[in-house]
Amino acid sequence: MIVTTKELFKHAYGKYAIGAYNINNLEQTMGLFQGNVQSKAPFIVQLSKGARSYTHKLMLEALMRTADEIFPDAVFAIHLDHGDEATCMDCINSGIYSSVMIDASHESFEKNIEITKRVVDAAHAKGLVVEAELGQLGGVEEHISVSEADAKLTDPKQAKEFVERTNVDSLACAIGTSHGAFKFTGSQGLHFEVIEEIQRLLPGFPLVMHGSSSVPREEVERINAAGGKLQGAKGVDENQFARAAKLGVTKVNIDTDGRLVWCRVHREMFRDEPEVFDLRKPGKVFMAEYANFIAHKNEKLGSAGQVDAVRTKF
Ligand code: G3H
Ligand code: 13P
Ligand code: ZN
Repeated sequence: MIVTTKELFKHAYGKYAIGAYNINNLEQTMGLFQGNVQSKAPFIVQLSKGARSYTHKLMLEALMRTADEIFPDAVFAIHLDHGDEATCMDCINSGIYSSVMIDASHESFEKNIEITKRVVDAAHAKGLVVEAELGQLGGVEEHISVSEADAKLTDPKQAKEFVERTNVDSLACAIGTSHGAFKFTGSQGLHFEVIEEIQRLLPGFPLVMHGSSSVPREEVERINAAGGKLQGAKGVDENQFARAAKLGVTKVNIDTDGRLVWCRVHREMFRDEPEVFDLRKPGKVFMAEYANFIAHKNEKLGSAGQVDAVRTKF
């Protein structure tokens, strides 16, 4: 069942976080749906601009419609991740998206408000909800590169003003994470004091944590042992999701960890079974491993086991 993130957020707020998982293809779609059904979790499918142009945006939409048919027990929202204004408008008009993210965080505060407001007005008119971003994460976001040194944490007072002036439905905050497999070079971590202050100023308002992959050490070691080169990769401690959820972090974005599962499965198979050339062999293993990975993440997020309670809200 395809649902709006508004109701998902209402149910989760302050209690648990919803996993928002990026996917690009058929195998990820199957693993994602299997893992969420297996762990009885509501979830958000995230489609980025890059994913939409990897094959074709309509191919992804068709995958979503078909997955909805194949997995009648799944309760999920379909979300555009890191959209620009034009892509947001395209998704708003597509008829299948539940929500869009307008990412104008690289613009000035005023320009970010102006662009976000235009997207909010268009989305709300069609019953969709909107996520925006304020502050800048470290690492690389689509075409924009922000060095770790320049990464700007979200200013809580600005967050309050931003939400009031744009009427946006949720806010991605920069709280010390970054995208990709190399998030922290030393002992940095999540800035809970920033989340706490935002929650104090905006009680009940859903916050979004980007760059939430945990980059498991074991996964990285297995990839490197099979020929990979991911020295120094480090992510967010998944045991901190529960604390963040209590402070209003209602959506947690995970992409990189899924790519690591894909990389490990394929590297190990080609190392251990060099005679393999049938794409379905690693594909089958990947789908099962990705499903297990998703189920594990949902346990950490607290969304596992919530699907029956959520379904009654629709
Ligand atoms: O934040 C970015 C997401 O991980 C999506 O990555 O733009 O390469 O699809 P992508
Ligand atoms: P990761 O790179 O940590 O998986 O973050 C993904 C993300 O924030 C997608 O918007
Ligand atoms: Zn992101």
